[in-house]
Formats: sequence, structure tokens, C-alpha cells
Amino acid sequence: MSISATGLPSLNGLPTAVKIVEVGPRDGLQNEALPIDTATKIDFITKLAEAGLPEVEASSFVSPKAIPQLGDAVAVFQQLPQRLGTVFSALVPNSKGLERAIQAGVKRIAVFTAASESFTKRNINMSIQDSLDTFAPVVKDAHAAGMSVRGYVSTAFVCPYEGKIAKEKVREVTENLLAMGVDEVSLGDTIGAATPKDVVETVGYVLQTVPKDKIALHFHDTYGTALANVLTGLQLGIAKFDSSAGGLGGCPYAPGASGNLATEDLVYMLNGMGIQTGVDLNKVADASLVIEKQLGKTLPSKQLQRIKASRAARASAAP
Ligand code: HMG
Ligand code: MG
Repeated sequence: MSISATGLPSLNGLPTAVKIVEVGPRDGLQNEALPIDTATKIDFITKLAEAGLPEVEASSFVSPKAIPQLGDAVAVFQQLPQRLGTVFSALVPNSKGLERAIQAGVKRIAVFTAASESFTKRNINMSIQDSLDTFAPVVKDAHAAGMSVRGYVSTAFVCPYEGKIAKEKVREVTENLLAMGVDEVSLGDTIGAATPKDVVETVGYVLQTVPKDKIALHFHDTYGTALANVLTGLQLGIAKFDSSAGGLGGCPYAPGASGNLATEDLVYMLNGMGIQTGVDLNKVADASLVIEKQLGKTLPSKQLQRIKASRAARASAAP
């Protein structure tokens, strides 16, 4: 944070617009044991697109044994609304996943590895090097099929099995993914344990060799530090953040990981700071309510709960 002429902290120089990548239908739902039917997922995703989200990660072409909730990925993609100008993407872990994604007409995929060996092994049953060797032909074939490709580096700050992760490893894996042709890398705080100090140290180090526009940040909010981490990311010049409607989310292979940063809470903060997102907060809440109702539980987003309370108060005050 810079210091203004008055001696007060200044927020000048932050990005004026931010791209939000909505990961609720994938990162959110993958962690829910209660099966959600395909039609409800389509309703949820359609409402997210109507809210103006530029990219929605709609599902995963992973093994249905690993993530049963997303076993209907092909059916989801075949029924998505195509008229709203939102890009729909999906995770792909290997060539079998790519085949299924091509069959489903997917235009953007994400390959995903991590900066910790233990997490990578538990998540995708590969070493980090094996995952990179697996992705290289997947990225090449995806490009040949006309798709664009994002990369993820999970456990970029803290690993549930190994603790604090070395920034050098994060940069090495990021550079490897970029060298194989992914157009951006999302650095994941998979268990939501990072603080702004970790973000400054690790992302600041990565940015010494990687351009800012190649990096997105993906914060879970287990310890309540996600918005503080976003502010730190903005101060480092990052303008792409992942979040999940209602604060749904988690990773079944990362014990203790709770939901992603809630999209509603992110939009509220960015709106208040005058940073453009193109996203309608109330419409994101409409989408979250579809899933909240199905799951029969209160989602963690503070803004979602505020919007619900204010709608209920208006309804009870109506004549
Ligand atoms: P494996 O068991 O080592 O793989 O799993 P395999 O090749 O031996 O295959 C086992 C079985 O799965 C076979 O079936 C394959 O055909 C099938 P069987 O012969 O037993 O009937 N299979 C597939 N089926 C459908 N689609 C596929 C596929 N691949 C194999 N693509 C594997 C390795 C990678 C497949 C598995 O471990 C897996 O799917 N893992 C995914 C785990 C996952 O989705 N984790 C959550 C996402 S990551 C995350 O949340 C973090 C993130 O949000 C960022 C952050 O927060 O940090 C992105
Ligand atoms: Mg995640």
C-alpha cells in the first residue's frame, strides 16, 4: 500500500477492473455429498451467467469415482445456455478427461497440479513431474481442438500434509505450466490458511519472473483471510480472482478445507472500492439460493445472508 501526500494509506494504483472466475459449480459442488441433479446445476449455472460472470467453471472431467457429484459433466455441458457471453470451463486431469471434454463441446479447460508432492499424490495420484508430463500432450491436443487452457497450482501457500510451501517451488511449477502453453495460472490457497504476508512473499516472488496478467488468485476462506488476501493481490497488481457463489466449496483431498471466498462478498468489496467487475451482486445471490435450497443448509457468504434478510424484511413489511 502506498502512502499519500497526507500521510494516510492510499489505495491509488490498484487495478480498475477485475475478472472474477466463478468456480461454484465445480469447486463448490465437488465437496457436497448430497447429489445435486443436472437440471438444478443448469439452473444454478444459467443464473450465474445471467449475473454477468465472464467465466464459470461448470464441472470437471475427472474420474467419477474420485468426484461422484460431477459425474454428469458431459450432460451439464450439453445443456448449458450458449447465448449469454459467458465462457464455461472445466477441469481436465488427463487425456481421458480431454476426450470427454471434446465430446461435450467444451471450449476452455483447466489442468491442475500443486506445489506440494503429498497433495498432488492424494489429489490426482501423480507426482508433480508426472502431472506435468501428463498435461503437456493434453494442453497440445486441447489447443489443436480449438480450446484455451488454464493451469492451477494448488497448495501454493500452505499444504495440509507438508505445511508452508516454498515460494521457489510455486514459481517453478507456474513457469512449467506457462511453458507448455497455458494462458494463465491460478495460484490456489487450497485450505484457506494463507495470510497477506504469505501472498506478498509468494506471489511477489512469482511476479519477479511471471507477468501479472498471467496470474489469477484462488482463495478458500477457511480461516477468514480470503478478502484480506484479495486486497493484497490487488496491491500486487493482480486483476483475476476465483470465487464461489455463496461461499460453497472445498477439496475432498484437502482435509479441513472449507468453502471458497464467496463471490457475493468479493463483488461487494470490489464495488465499494470502485473496481469494475460487470457482475450483479443480487443476481449472484439468486443463483446461490438455488443451491442453498437444494442443500438445505445456510451458505457462508455474509452478503448472501444480508441480501436474504433484507428481502425477507421487505416482504414482511409489504402491505
Ligand atoms: P487413477 O486411479 O490414478 O487413474 O486416478 P487411472 O488412470 O488408474 O484410472 C482409474 C479409473 O478411473 C479407470 O477406470 C479410468 O478409466 C478412470 P476403471 O478402469 O477403474 O473403471 N478414469 C477416468 N474416468 C473419467 N474421466 C477421467 C478419468 N481418468 C481415469 N478423466 C485421476 C487419477 C487423476 C483420474 C483421479 O485421481 C482423479 O480423477 N482425481 C481428481 C481429483 C479432483 O477432482 N480433485 C478436486 C479438484 S482439484 C481442487 O479442487 C483444487 C483447485 O480448486 C485449486 C485449489 O483450491 O487449490 C483446482
Ligand atoms: Mg479450490
